[in-house]
Amino acid sequence: MIRKAVLPVAGWGTRFLPATKAMPKEMFPIIDKPVIQFIVEELLEAGVENVIFVTGRHKRPIEHHFDINTDLEKHLEEAGKEDVLENIKEISHMINPIYLRQKEQLGLGHAVLTAEPAVGNEPFLVSLGDIILERGREVIEKMIEAHYRFGKSVIALHEVEEKEVSKYGIAKVKRIEEDIYIVEDLVEKPSPEEAPSNLAIVGRYVFTPRIFDKLRETKPGKGGEIQLTDAMKLLLEEEVIYAYKVEGKVYDTGNPVDYIKTIVEFALKREDIREEILSYLQEILSKQTQLIDRP
Ligand code: UTP
Repeated sequence: MIRKAVLPVAGWGTRFLPATKAMPKEMFPIIDKPVIQFIVEELLEAGVENVIFVTGRHKRPIEHHFDINTDLEKHLEEAGKEDVLENIKEISHMINPIYLRQKEQLGLGHAVLTAEPAVGNEPFLVSLGDIILERGREVIEKMIEAHYRFGKSVIALHEVEEKEVSKYGIAKVKRIEEDIYIVEDLVEKPSPEEAPSNLAIVGRYVFTPRIFDKLRETKPGKGGEIQLTDAMKLLLEEEVIYAYKVEGKVYDTGNPVDYIKTIVEFALKREDIREEILSYLQEILSKQTQLIDRP
């Protein structure tokens, strides 16, 4: 049974500085819900309840978010704001989290290795704290199911445009079922010419505990960091790794442009604000078009 999920949230978030100097990017709101809550909800919906956060110095707001805030609850009660109160209480009781400190930000691989004492010798999930999946529950369920069938690690992949491959870890794969593949190789940020496919690693993984041995063997790579992809390449030498191809959209909230796109899309999905946002977008779009058309 896969019971545990590791959420590495200790990164610097340099692409978002100075906003991330004191505030974790995982706490940035998508309208009114922080990114990390979407990821925790996805896990809960798929039946995974043990959430292990690998945090760092500036990440306290994440702990506060999933904790009880009695002052706020009292205030909402006195103000008669029952709906919000319910929601706030729900978040406080959502999970019984474990927090581990990654004392030095030595890379995603190192963050996963930091979680070993809490994971132990059992298969586990890893979900990146800045990627929201449109069909997250389904993805986690399918990955867990594939793990049970094959008894091996399973990573999530999604199709990206060919010109975009150089932004991602790309997998060389062999298709064995409609949405299940065998991973043959992994290439970090290849040029479009070198890329073995357009299937990118997407931030959801099921690992056998063997990955911890491989992380220990992994030498620092790009930027002096212990890269998870490098450890996966070592794992590939002795275990088959399977891949599940994600259907639905992938929202990367870890950089400003994709973060803004995510907010706009989520706003348009929300009945209470959709109309207002849509007419605002139409208005600014038509103003921009007029400016462009002006000789
Ligand atoms: P990113 O590649 O997004 O790095 O890490 P980052 O530091 O968060 O952001 P940038 O690139 O500087 O803008 C992917 C995930 O791994 C975590 C991050 O918190 C993020 O969820 N991570 C990364 C760690 O937990 N520790 C690390 O040392 C590095």
